[in-house]
Amino acid sequence: MRAISYTVALAGVLATTSAMAQCDPGEEVIRFSHVTAEQGHPKGEAALLLQERVNNELDGRACMEVYPSSTLFNDDDVLPAMLRGEVEMAAPSLSKFSSYTQSLQLFDLPFLFEDMLAVEEFQNSDAGQALKESMVDEGLLGLEFWHNGMKQFSANRPLIQPSDAAGLRFRIQPSAILNAQIEALGATATPMPFSEVYAALESGGVDGQANSWSNIYTQSFHTVQDGVTESNHGILDYLVVTSTTWWDGLDPELRDDLAQILLEVTHERNRFAFELGELNKIRVRQDGVRIRRLDAETRAAWVSALAPVWAQFEDEIGLDLINAAEAAEGGL
Ligand code: SIN
Repeated sequence: MRAISYTVALAGVLATTSAMAQCDPGEEVIRFSHVTAEQGHPKGEAALLLQERVNNELDGRACMEVYPSSTLFNDDDVLPAMLRGEVEMAAPSLSKFSSYTQSLQLFDLPFLFEDMLAVEEFQNSDAGQALKESMVDEGLLGLEFWHNGMKQFSANRPLIQPSDAAGLRFRIQPSAILNAQIEALGATATPMPFSEVYAALESGGVDGQANSWSNIYTQSFHTVQDGVTESNHGILDYLVVTSTTWWDGLDPELRDDLAQILLEVTHERNRFAFELGELNKIRVRQDGVRIRRLDAETRAAWVSALAPVWAQFEDEIGLDLINAAEAAEGGL
């Protein structure tokens, strides 16, 4: 299948749109499932570029179909479905792998990374790259890390001091560390699929959430919250993942070509994730929503409120891995 596609300039960021066509007989069909917006979002844009390149460069050998916005599977279902052979690729948030490995929980530790450059530096280290193989015994293989951005808290009342969160109900991704963070704030955590968050915030089923600027803007979370607090307390990042059975069963030449295209798309799109996040922050602001910044003293209060979470998970994650991640300096 050849993709029908075109690219448009979007405030300095390339947005690719692509219409799906039927795969041709004999082509290896690669279904890529994800849960975010298709356009103006780091993961959506990366998946579209991957689809475009696979369908043009591997035409006759492979054919990719991207299913955005939980149209094929939501993040609760996609990994079991992958193990059953019902989808070939996905890029869940790193907070969604805890049933398969404890190591990736590392990325949920609060205030571990100073910025996305530190995340990139750690992921490119030997310790970071080894994490891609941390679920091989479970039948899953990580191929590449994709970036989104730092996470920001929001709620239906102003969050300035950590004590402002006490008594509120926050939606979280299904992660024991994210649960412990919310409890450390004296609040209640409700795990919920991404596709249900807007409705829960709007109806008051939950009071608040934490997510990246790109996720907040593209899901309109900010429109049903009393401002967003620029807490930068965690990261929202992805692992492009596949099943070892499917990957190992590919024709070796096709596998190499696909891996090379994925690597190039990763380098190209990860560079844009930060820019897209900044653009989406501006759009939140342009919608008239208050963005609350933390001064050094208030930030220190959030760091200290969430610090006890580290000790709870040190043994599960491993001190060596935590030390390796902490050593990444980023753009300091
Ligand atoms: C995603 O960005 O893929 C979803 C993150 C979330 O569930 O909050």
